[in-house]
Amino acid sequence: MIKKGIILAGGRGTRMSPLTKAINKQLLPIFDKPLIFYPLSILMLSKIKDILIIVNKGELSQYKKIIPSGKNLGIKITYAEQSEPRGLPDAFIIGEKFIGSDNVALILGDNFFYGQNLTTQLLNYKKLKKGAKIILHKVKKPDQYGVAKINKKYKVTHIKEKPKKFISDLAITGLYFFDNLVCKYSKLLKPSKRGELEIVDLINKYKKKGNLKASLLGRGGAWLDTGSIDDFYKTSAFVSAIEKRQGLKVACIEEIALSNGWINKREINNQIKFYGKCEYSEYLKNLIITKK
Ligand code: TTP
Repeated sequence: MIKKGIILAGGRGTRMSPLTKAINKQLLPIFDKPLIFYPLSILMLSKIKDILIIVNKGELSQYKKIIPSGKNLGIKITYAEQSEPRGLPDAFIIGEKFIGSDNVALILGDNFFYGQNLTTQLLNYKKLKKGAKIILHKVKKPDQYGVAKINKKYKVTHIKEKPKKFISDLAITGLYFFDNLVCKYSKLLKPSKRGELEIVDLINKYKKKGNLKASLLGRGGAWLDTGSIDDFYKTSAFVSAIEKRQGLKVACIEEIALSNGWINKREINNQIKFYGKCEYSEYLKNLIITKK
């Protein structure tokens, strides 16, 4: 059972410049809340309470303004800085002490997941004891993603970054589950031509040992990578449409903490004070009015 999770929330955000020149991508809004709330909500829905957020060097104080601690969410949040974007597996080098002797989940700070049965699926993924698990989602243009081919037993047989020739239309999403060997394997990696440690190289180490499994996020689920401006606004529009139609918020971290039984009215009231008078606070107020 995985009890720890890492959110990788640094990066250059080159594709979204100039928006990302002064503000990190994960602090920009997806509709009514900062992007970082969305991956955080995924770990919380997975009932992971011990979370490391990795941010760029020099950006810690901005993150602490919006998520000062996990106290009002009933979780433990630790922050670490990445000196430069050295690649995704760097999370396990920076996070080695945090991980200790446990297994760990990794979610990229700019990945958005939504859908029916998502919580049930997440709770299944985190049962991982040995090896690694990647989460795949069918895409129309596989040549733009890292993709994986799987056999009938959901074992990964091929992985390829942005394949020119079709091998599979299942993209590797930014949610991964690893056993404790991940720290050792990450330290063995060499930077690629673009000077980064590559996640594909890391999961290949598990694949070579026959220890890489995959799960599919079904067609009822949505996975959006918010890396480009266009995708960013599409995700925002998606959240806006769902929230306006249902009157329920996507990725309201306090709501998840409340329904997980991690906090009560007092913490919600603290958060209302913290956010001030705004529509988000109104939503939080309604949560405790309707809850007996
Ligand atoms: P990317 O999309 O690969 O990179 P980026 O966000 O910097 O954007 P761009 O390609 O436009 O420059 O990163 C995926 C996620 O992982 C994103 O949320 C940033 C984060 N990340 C880090 O925190 N550290 C890293 O070393 C890298 C490579 C990414």
